[in-house]
Amino acid sequence: MPAVPTDNAAAWDRHSAGYQAGAKLSTEVAHYGPDIGTEADYRLLGELKGKRVLELGCGGGQCSIAFAKHGATAIGIDFSAEQLAFARRLVEREGVKVELRQGDLADLAFLRADSIDAAFSAFAFGFVDDLNRVFRQVHRVLKVGAPLVFSLPHPAYDMIDDDDPDQPLLVRRSYFDRSPIDYEWNGVPFTDYHHTISDLYMGLVRASYRVDVILEPEPTPSGPRSPDWREAFRHVPRTLIVRVRKEGN
Ligand SMILES: C[S@@+](CC[C@H](N)C(=O)[O-])C[C@H]1O[C@@H](n2cnc3c(N)ncnc32)[C@H](O)[C@@H]1O
Repeated sequence: MPAVPTDNAAAWDRHSAGYQAGAKLSTEVAHYGPDIGTEADYRLLGELKGKRVLELGCGGGQCSIAFAKHGATAIGIDFSAEQLAFARRLVEREGVKVELRQGDLADLAFLRADSIDAAFSAFAFGFVDDLNRVFRQVHRVLKVGAPLVFSLPHPAYDMIDDDDPDQPLLVRRSYFDRSPIDYEWNGVPFTDYHHTISDLYMGLVRASYRVDVILEPEPTPSGPRSPDWREAFRHVPRTLIVRVRKEGN
C-alpha cells in the first residue's frame, strides 16, 4: 500500500512558531536558502519598483515585505494559517502593505491572466508533488517575458543522510527514486517531493518557459550559521535556484 503523504499544511501550522523563532529571517532582502547568498548577491529579480510581485509559499512574509520595501506591490500566498498569521503580524509591525492569501500554490484563480511582473518562491516547491501544475498556473498569471525565480532543495542532497556529522557521507537513496520523502523536523512529520534537475527542466519547457539561470550556490565561506547548517553543505549542494521567463501564451 502506498504511504499516505503527510498533510504538509497541518505540519506547517504545527511547526510555524518554532521555525520562525529559529530562522529570524531578514525583511530587508529576499533570501533563497540556508547559508547561501541573498537577492543582494544574485540579483535575479531585477528592479522591483512599481512591479506586481507574487510570492509562492510566502510563509512568514519576510521576502514579500522586502519586495514591498523595494517599491513593489507584493502578494503572498501560503496554505498554512499559522504561517500567514505570523506574516500578518510582521507586515503590520514593519508598516508595509502586502496582500496575503491563504491557498494552495496551484490555485491562483484569484489573479488575472498576464497580470504579474515577477513570481518568486523560496524553499516551498519541495513540498509540492505536482509541480508542473504550479508551473502552468504561474505561467497563466505572469506577463510575457516576466521571470519566475525559485529555490528548492537540491535533488542531489536528497541522496545523503546528514544527521550525524561524525559519519561519512554515504549515498542512502537513489537520485532516480521519485517516491515521497517522509521525515520529521523538530518532531513534526513532513513529506518532501524529489524533483530531479531534468524533471524540473522538462516541466518548465513544456509549460512554455525559457530557462535562463540555474545556480547551485556554495555555502557562504564564514559568518554566523543558520539553525539548519550542516558540514555536508560544503560537499553537496543544499539549494538549487532557477530563473525562467514566460514565453508566449
Ligand atoms: C520552508 S517554508 C518557506 C517559507 C518562506 N518562503 C521562507 O523562506 O521562510 C515553506 C512554505 O511553503 C508553504 N507551502 C508548502 N507547500 C504549499 C502549497 N502546496 N501551497 C501553499 N503553500 C505551501 C508552507 O506552508 C510554508 O510556509
